[in-house]
Amino acid sequence: MEKCKCYKNENKKDGLCQKYKSKIDGLSVHCSGFWTEDKIRHFKHYAEMFSTGMKNKWQGRLYYIDLFAGPGKCIIRENQKEIDGTCLEVASLKDKFKKYFFVDKNITCIEDLKKRLEKHNNIEYYNDDCNIAIKKIVEEIPDNSLSLAIVDPDSLQFHFNSYKELAKRKIDLIVNYPICPVGRAFSSVLSKKSNSVILDKFHPGWRDVVDVNKKSWRMAMGDLIKDYINKIERLGYYSNSVKAPFKNDKNATMYYLLMFSKDKRGIEFWDKIINSFKKKKSLQPMF
Ligand SMILES: C[S@@+](CC[C@H](N)C(=O)[O-])C[C@H]1O[C@@H](n2cnc3c(N)ncnc32)[C@H](O)[C@@H]1O
Repeated sequence: MEKCKCYKNENKKDGLCQKYKSKIDGLSVHCSGFWTEDKIRHFKHYAEMFSTGMKNKWQGRLYYIDLFAGPGKCIIRENQKEIDGTCLEVASLKDKFKKYFFVDKNITCIEDLKKRLEKHNNIEYYNDDCNIAIKKIVEEIPDNSLSLAIVDPDSLQFHFNSYKELAKRKIDLIVNYPICPVGRAFSSVLSKKSNSVILDKFHPGWRDVVDVNKKSWRMAMGDLIKDYINKIERLGYYSNSVKAPFKNDKNATMYYLLMFSKDKRGIEFWDKIINSFKKKKSLQPMF
C-alpha cells in the first residue's frame, strides 16, 4: 500500500484523508501521525476511569462532550493502520454516559460518525463550529451533573471564551495544546505576514508574555503555555502537574495534553494515567 502523503497536505482536506477510505466500512478517515494512537488511548483511559469511577456518586448525571469529534476512524499515515477515533472508543465503554454531544464543523465527519454509531442512542450531533455549539450544549447540561469534555483541535480553532462557557458547569477538560500550529501562528504574526485575529481569540493577552519586538516566539513558548494554563485555572480549575508531550519521529513535540478539573481527584487520576504511559513507553519503544 502506498504511503499516504497527507503530511505534506497533498491529500488532506479538513483533516480527512483524500487518498484512503476505511477498508472496514468504506467511510472517511482522519489522516493522523503515529502519535495519535497514544493520544486516543489517553482520552479513552480517562473516560473509562471517569465513567466507571463516578457512576455511583453521579448516577444518571454523567455527560460526555467531544468538541472536535472527527469522523470516528483514523488512518495512521506511516503504516496505514486503521484505528477507532475517540468518539467510537468512548461510546463503546462498558459504563455509559447519560448523553454524548459530538461536534464537528465538517459535514462529512458528522455524517460518517452517525453511520458508524447508528446502533447507539443518547448521542446528539452538532455540525457546527464548536465555539457556537458549546453554548447550546452547556444549556442542555443540568447544573447538578458531572461531565467530561475533550478539546482536540488540529490548530488554533478553540476560542478562549469557550472555556468560560464550559466553566459554567462541572466539566473536566482534556485539551490538546497544539505547539506547532501555535508556533506557526506566532511566526506569521511577528513577521507581520498575518494579523493577530486568530491568536487573539485563541490566547487573549498573549502580548503580555511575548515581546513582539524580539520577533521570536520560541523563547516565550514555555511562558505562553504557563500563562494559558493560569488563565484557565482562574476560571476555577486545577490543572495537571505531569507533562504529557507527544513527539514525532524527529523528537519534536507536536502537542501537549493539558488536563483541567474542578476536583483535585480528577488531576490525580490523570497524573496516574500519564505516569503509567511513561513507564510503559520506557519498556516498549514506539517502533
Ligand atoms: C484532530 S481532529 C479530531 C480527531 C478526533 N478527536 C479523534 O479522536 O478521532 C480535528 C477535527 O476538528 C474538526 N474541526 C476543526 N475546526 C473545528 C471547529 N471550529 N469546530 C468544530 N470542529 C472543528 C475537523 O473537521 C476535524 O475533524
